[in-house]
Amino acid sequence: MRARPELRAGTRAITSTQNERVKLIRALEMRKVRRETGLFVAEGTSVLLTARAAGWEPKILALLAESRDKPSAAEVARWAEGAGAECLEVSASLLAKLAGKDNPQSMLGVFEQRWARLPAAGALRQGAIWVALEAPRDPGNLGTILRSIEAVAASGVVLIEQSCDPYSREAVRASMGSIFNVPVVRAEVAAFLAWRAQWPGEVVGTHLAAAHDFRQVAYRAPVLLLMGSEGPGLTPELARACSRLVKIPMAGTLNSLNLAVATSLMLYEIARERLQL
Ligand SMILES: C[S@@+](CC[C@H](N)C(=O)[O-])C[C@H]1O[C@@H](n2cnc3c(N)ncnc32)[C@H](O)[C@@H]1O
Repeated sequence: MRARPELRAGTRAITSTQNERVKLIRALEMRKVRRETGLFVAEGTSVLLTARAAGWEPKILALLAESRDKPSAAEVARWAEGAGAECLEVSASLLAKLAGKDNPQSMLGVFEQRWARLPAAGALRQGAIWVALEAPRDPGNLGTILRSIEAVAASGVVLIEQSCDPYSREAVRASMGSIFNVPVVRAEVAAFLAWRAQWPGEVVGTHLAAAHDFRQVAYRAPVLLLMGSEGPGLTPELARACSRLVKIPMAGTLNSLNLAVATSLMLYEIARERLQL
């Protein structure tokens, strides 16, 4: 188990790729290191401002020294320093190495991961919508789903079994800051099924063999929406756990929709009445 790094509050300039903080941030590309340290990376000023608004605080902030001239970047730097983060001023080329891409945002933050628990039936808010994803594989899909969950004010997501990592850079990037606002729960199938057994409302599964059109259902709140994996779809065990299976009609020759697209369509249909411009 990798030790959680001892962090030093304050700001300093860093130039070497051999610096231990630089090595740590780069190593957070690896799932194993994220698991061992419980840390993750989020990039970009507006995403970090979202984190601040949601009550998160960075452990480390790396920023372009010259970006402090911009008011929003200076604001993020003040917040991070005030929160006791270790602030690293770096060059554009070093930031590109930290971000793992050629045109990086002007800053990135390192945060502690948060994992929520399955909520008790009595603790569900009125009209709650939870999404459960069976073993999602693609972090881009997962991040996009987090974003749609926030867009319809759904309550959170349950990742069932072997899921891709919501704290990977790709998932965090695709969520565009929603990772800071959407509770994420991990559950084994048995724990999920025990929780589902207490669910007081509708449990809707999406299935290509379903006979019901997803637009012709009156969804009884609270709604638990169950989505299958990109590869095999919903396993029979989880399909049997649904009180209703629905399908999104498709024209053309394709077999299925992308998981994130299907989840977003479902969420908008379930939340249709409550969303107003
Ligand atoms: C890419 S699909 C997987 C397709 C998989 N080969 C199958 O046979 O189910 C991933 C998930 O998105 C959802 N999905 C995709 N298209 C759908 C549709 N037209 N109707 C209902 N659900 C759909 C289902 O939850 C499905 O398990």
